[in-house]
Amino acid sequence: MEHTDDLDFADGIDIQEVADGAIIRGHVGGEKVLLVRRGEDHFAIGAECTHYHAQLANGLIVDDTIRCPMHHACFSLRTGEALCAPALDPVSIWRIERGLGKIIIREKLSPPKPSIASPSTVTPTSIVIVGAGAAGLAAADMLRREGYSGPLTMFSADDTPPYDRPNISKDFLMGTAPAEWMPLRDSQYYADRQIELMLNARVTAIDPVRRVVCLANGQQVTYGALLLATGADPVRLAIPATVDARILYLRTFADCRAIIAVAELAKAAVVVGASFIGLEVAASLRARGIEVHVVGLERIPLERVVGPDVGTLVRDLHESHGVTFHLENSVARIDGKRVTLNDGTTLQSDFTVLGVGVKPAIALAEQAGLMVDRGITVNQYLETSAPGVFAAGDIARWPDPHSGDRIRVEHWVVAQRQGQVAARNILGSREPFAAVPFFWSQHYDVVINYVGHAEKFDSTVIDGSLKSRDCTVAYRRGERNLAVAAISRDLQSLQAERAFEAEFVPGRPR
Ligand SMILES: Cc1cc2nc3c(=O)[nH]c(=O)nc-3n(C[C@H](O)[C@H](O)[C@H](O)COP(=O)(O)OP(=O)(O)OC[C@H]3O[C@@H](n4cnc5c(N)ncnc54)[C@H](O)[C@@H]3O)c2cc1C
Ligand code: FES
Repeated sequence: MEHTDDLDFADGIDIQEVADGAIIRGHVGGEKVLLVRRGEDHFAIGAECTHYHAQLANGLIVDDTIRCPMHHACFSLRTGEALCAPALDPVSIWRIERGLGKIIIREKLSPPKPSIASPSTVTPTSIVIVGAGAAGLAAADMLRREGYSGPLTMFSADDTPPYDRPNISKDFLMGTAPAEWMPLRDSQYYADRQIELMLNARVTAIDPVRRVVCLANGQQVTYGALLLATGADPVRLAIPATVDARILYLRTFADCRAIIAVAELAKAAVVVGASFIGLEVAASLRARGIEVHVVGLERIPLERVVGPDVGTLVRDLHESHGVTFHLENSVARIDGKRVTLNDGTTLQSDFTVLGVGVKPAIALAEQAGLMVDRGITVNQYLETSAPGVFAAGDIARWPDPHSGDRIRVEHWVVAQRQGQVAARNILGSREPFAAVPFFWSQHYDVVINYVGHAEKFDSTVIDGSLKSRDCTVAYRRGERNLAVAAISRDLQSLQAERAFEAEFVPGRPR
């Protein structure tokens, strides 16, 4: 039986109507609620994800959790707790009453208390987090959720409290997201949880033996446990250019504001790098009515990651929105507003944005003598080679149990989830990081959701239609699926993630 949001659960629903595994939409006291059945258990939970408000009814139930269709956050059906990022806040839950063959949803219950699933066995005297991005904030949040009440300091080289970095190449750059959407937390949040957030505070050295971090202003701070979460820096290209050439990068909110300031007066722009970030910038600048040229070394944009078919789709999509590509090409020099390409083409452009990749910010680790290998080497618990020092996010290269390889990725959700796991491990929980990598990228109205990790693949299998932008693409090596990209198929993306999780048996060698 089909139910709509009109169903008032306060009136009750016939218990026979609720099939095992069903998600039924309705409302209680004006709030949208989902009724979910798992075996003999029934749950009443808020209908919207607390990340970007996606409809959880379109998600996937796994055991006693529900997963969001948009960016795969995971909530406990029992408590509403946001178990896995990107959502950090719980969803509401309601009390259920069963009797006379009916289920009635009663009052809303109070938000979950810290889960303390495995009470902390270690209580560091103090915890310092270097970096207040995706991993840093998620870690601080989890430390407090898990009941750690000692001193907790986050140092950030940024001038802005933690913000929604993925949005700086999307809606915010387009001009369609108000500034209020950008902070991940308001200032009260840090005050309430006694998280000391130090902005414009660059750490210049760490001494893992004395357990001290040194700041650019000369200050030295001791720590009981340290989390490095310094992210990545854009790769800088030494393009010959005159001093009046406007060359910009995009990593921080300040970078984004600088691009917007120039874009507001611009007619044309060149984006160097047909990367995810480069192309998202191109889309956002087109939304501002700016003429956009994308220059890239590759034959097909994004081919290395998503293969030729999806790469061609992305190129066609951008072309249909007026982007001009100059592929298998690069910029030779920039003279003021004239950009000269290697093949001799000249383009008139008010500014140039470079999106040619990032490199992990591992200088601190190198200086401190930690083990590094194109990233900071961590074990399954996200511990570095120095006792009491953990690393998470774009800098961490970890043993991925799914691929069997040591990998490092640059995905928002992975960074947050690593921050969460590192936090629990700092408190002694010894939890291996086993999440299946996930990222999303948005190009106009097309969103690509990608689960798994396929550094190299030898074939792709498309299910559905790329042309109608409704498909999944599996990336395979031999007989094995390594990753799946999904367009307009959120549920299949969640199912693919679940299948990768199920394949992994702890301790089984790959
Ligand atoms: C424009 C853009 C768009 C993106 N879009 C997406 C997307 O759509 N989907 C997706 O999955 N991923 C996306 N990403 C990638 C995602 O944002 C990163 O993977 C994620 O932010 C990494 O988190 P992190 O915590 O490792 O680093 P960051 O979030 O970069 O945080 C690093 C922090 O460390 C601080 N720091 C660095 N060095 C020091 C130091 N020496 N001392 C003190 N502080 C320091 C920085 O100031 C910052 O606070 C995007 C990235 C960018 C730049
Ligand atoms: S909207 Fe639910 S995870 Fe992003």
